[in-house]
Amino acid sequence: FSRALIDTYKRRHDYLRISLTERCNLRCFYCMPEQGVQLTPDSKILTDEEVIRLATLFVQAGVTKIRLTGGEPTVRKGIIEIIQELNKLRPLGLKSIAMTSNGLALHRRLPFLIGNGLTHLNLSLDTLDPFKFEFMTKRRGHDAVLKALDVALASPDLQSVKLNVVVVKGLNDSEILDFVEMTKNSAISVRFIEFMPFTGNKWDKAKMVPSSVLLDRITARHPDVVRISDEANDTARSWKVPDYRGTFGFISSMSDHFCSSCNRLRITADGQIKVCLFDAKEVSLRDEMRKGASDSDLLRIIGHAVSGKQEKHVHMEDINVVTNRPMILIGPIFSVR
Ligand code: GTP
Ligand code: 5AD
Ligand code: SF4
Repeated sequence: FSRALIDTYKRRHDYLRISLTERCNLRCFYCMPEQGVQLTPDSKILTDEEVIRLATLFVQAGVTKIRLTGGEPTVRKGIIEIIQELNKLRPLGLKSIAMTSNGLALHRRLPFLIGNGLTHLNLSLDTLDPFKFEFMTKRRGHDAVLKALDVALASPDLQSVKLNVVVVKGLNDSEILDFVEMTKNSAISVRFIEFMPFTGNKWDKAKMVPSSVLLDRITARHPDVVRISDEANDTARSWKVPDYRGTFGFISSMSDHFCSSCNRLRITADGQIKVCLFDAKEVSLRDEMRKGASDSDLLRIIGHAVSGKQEKHVHMEDINVVTNRPMILIGPIFSVR
């Protein structure tokens, strides 16, 4: 394991999130500012070759899991080819090729993605009601997402299928128990995510439902829920209704943070390395590659960025929302500029 991926708090970064595009085919209000975002020109987005070069370097250095994100990763033209190339990194130590998708343009393509090496899928779906879906995403397509979910659940080669539900008070919090019921017959992990603030997303503390409140509501219906042990470095705390096939969990980015076990690094679509989603500092690996940096130059630059990673981020509510970069531009994760 390369020292370049170990920080001063001895955290080993073996999980890399790569954003493949800033574009998205939905307009979820909590992610995309209403006025839209200024997209980086295509010439400044990493090419397929640059993505693969960086992925190879990170895997050689010790990364075992790569998650493809966006925007919406399926709108990137070369996604199948990128997965094919990532699949060739298995002999170097890559174990998981994961993707987080909104599922809108997925059901037909998913079998090809899996056939070429995709192993884990996280699907974003905030509501089981098609009208609410349209309200939350500003687009139609609820049925397409449900189809993608069915295809995913019927794919034996997918090692896990998780559903991401961002909970917003007064909008979808009434559906929590329906989502838990989805775990009855499906081997799915539903994760309820606390609504996080960033530029232009109309965040308001009053719209945030703490995970503890959701758990109380679920235990009122299912008093026998059991806590299940988390996988190392998991962002979610998970639970299960006995005899149900799937699980449910909470990603409590607002009320609790999981920095001490953080094993993630990120590359934005325009090729910046971010060591923490709350750290403004970004280093352009794209510029270095285009200036002719060698692999060892790049590893030195990465190591320097990793060594500057802070122990933990400030409490979310203390973050100045005005200074945040919109979620869509960083691979559905939030940051401070
Ligand atoms: P796996 O654990 O690999 O299944 O994925 P994940 O939950 O990390 O990723 P996913 O893309 O499904 O994101 C789910 C939620 O977790 C999103 O709301 C992300 O913004 C949030 N998230 C992902 N990584 C981090 C992190 O490092 N810190 C915090 N606070 N939130 C994160
Ligand atoms: N708060 C919490 N989660 C969010 N996501 C996007 N914006 C937010 C937000 N403001 C989630 C998406 C997707 C995941 C990658 O990030 O729902 O599932
Ligand atoms: Fe697109 Fe995901 Fe953002 Fe929704 S949350 S606008 S699906 S990137």
